[in-house]
Amino acid sequence: STEVLLQRYPDAQVTALDSDPDMIDKARERKRLCIPRVRMVIGDIAGWSAPEPQDLILANASLQWVPDHASLYPHLVRQLSEGASLAVQTPDNLDEPAHRQLREIASQGPWATKFADFQLPPRHNAAFYYDLLSPLCARVDVWRTTYHHPLMGGAEAVVEWFKGSALRPYLAKLDEREQADFLQMYLQAMQRDYPPASDGKVLLPFPRLFVVATR
Ligand SMILES: C[S@@+](CC[C@H](N)C(=O)[O-])C[C@H]1O[C@@H](n2cnc3c(N)ncnc32)[C@H](O)[C@@H]1O
Repeated sequence: STEVLLQRYPDAQVTALDSDPDMIDKARERKRLCIPRVRMVIGDIAGWSAPEPQDLILANASLQWVPDHASLYPHLVRQLSEGASLAVQTPDNLDEPAHRQLREIASQGPWATKFADFQLPPRHNAAFYYDLLSPLCARVDVWRTTYHHPLMGGAEAVVEWFKGSALRPYLAKLDEREQADFLQMYLQAMQRDYPPASDGKVLLPFPRLFVVATR
């Protein structure tokens, strides 16, 4: 995301923020990011305040991990200068089989009690963001697009895809043996729900919600 911003705005000073030090380390290893106009910050976006009003805040595939969007989005809009934009992309896939099966396996497996009080940050629909931001902004655009990702490697590839995101909070609750059993059940479910296309790849539908709010 940072590289895209640098290309799109060659004169801009860019701050790249992530709460995970590994992500920042990986970004620091990329040569194109090692230039004076990039400042890398390790921090929680919810508590981040810009040292001066920003022309653009871009949050790609990250805010779905952060609770309380009713406070977070207006807080980010307040960091913008007049006429500047907050641009956010979040996955909108909680109703997809890949997520529904996680909830089902968690609640029906021998580990069900471990998930009794399990809660993910809530996801909101387009109307929520429109109603939240339009009193604060001159313009709010919201749209939803379903990407269909062709994945080589069948249902195993679907499981791999979600290991880096949706599966993580579930696996974190389990011991090593339970994790292996959970993954096995999840793989079987993915084999049922995502049959191969004619070329053997799996076409993974992935809806995403976009919000661009301009002050
Ligand atoms: C799927 S990655 C996207 C990374 C990057 N934005 C991109 O577009 O390539 C999601 C990132 O959100 C970060 N994240 C999660 N919660 C966060 C928070 N409260 N504040 C800052 N970053 C957070 C994670 O550490 C992770 O690196």
